[in-house]
Amino acid sequence: MELGERLRSQWSESAQDWIDADQAVRTGMLDRWMLESLGDVGGKTVIDIGCGEGRFSRLLSKLGATVTGIDLTEAFIERARFTSANETYIVGNAEDLHGIERDAFDLAVSYIVLVDLLDFRSAVNAAYRVLRPGGRFVICNIHPMRSSVSDGWIKQGDKKLFYPVDNYTDEGPREFTWFDRTFINMHHTLSSYISSFLGAGFALRALQEPVPCEEELAANPTFDDEYRIPNFIIYVLEKPDS
Ligand SMILES: C[S@@+](CC[C@H](N)C(=O)[O-])C[C@H]1O[C@@H](n2cnc3c(N)ncnc32)[C@H](O)[C@@H]1O
Repeated sequence: MELGERLRSQWSESAQDWIDADQAVRTGMLDRWMLESLGDVGGKTVIDIGCGEGRFSRLLSKLGATVTGIDLTEAFIERARFTSANETYIVGNAEDLHGIERDAFDLAVSYIVLVDLLDFRSAVNAAYRVLRPGGRFVICNIHPMRSSVSDGWIKQGDKKLFYPVDNYTDEGPREFTWFDRTFINMHHTLSSYISSFLGAGFALRALQEPVPCEEELAANPTFDDEYRIPNFIIYVLEKPDS
């Protein structure tokens, strides 16, 4: 199967595993960073690009946003429609956002999705198109320092010695095993991401490398790895007012 097809189909069989997976790092740390980056979402229109089964869309909706979730994996969208009442969920491709009108949203969110895309640049351009001038695009992604090598920590027994960064400039697919299946994440350099954001027309308002606060660390002691090598990165982009 060619790479694009593998990327587009890899979640279909694993949708339930993702829904059942441990969400501690998202609920116990990342959500806070994402919500702070988004600011007050009350009364705002939001598109959640690659929404999965709608967990974060529901959270935003509860905070008063009008949310449209879009995802390529039908199994996720079916589940999202089943568990939600006030949000709109559609099957669609982040790489074109076909059928979504220009300037339609105050905010766009992409929560650990860019690594799944063959062509993240097209997705960035598409998000720019559907945001209104002055609108913000908040992206959480796997950190490029982390995505260059997918094999994980170099260990001595149980002791984590270090997490290697290697072949950093060799952009492309990295295979890893998750729930006994081979998955692919696309690796790109930090400069590729930033260039694509600026090239699309966005201004970069903030770049964050999330770490847990004291209470989050106390609740989830394994989060102390986030101080050793960042797992995630958050980009806060703004479409300039025309
Ligand atoms: C790691 S999951 C994250 C899901 C969700 N954002 C969350 O936080 O739970 C990646 C998601 O990207 C979706 N996805 C992958 N390729 C896509 C594409 N080309 N267009 C839209 N969604 C895509 C997958 O179906 C999956 O739901």
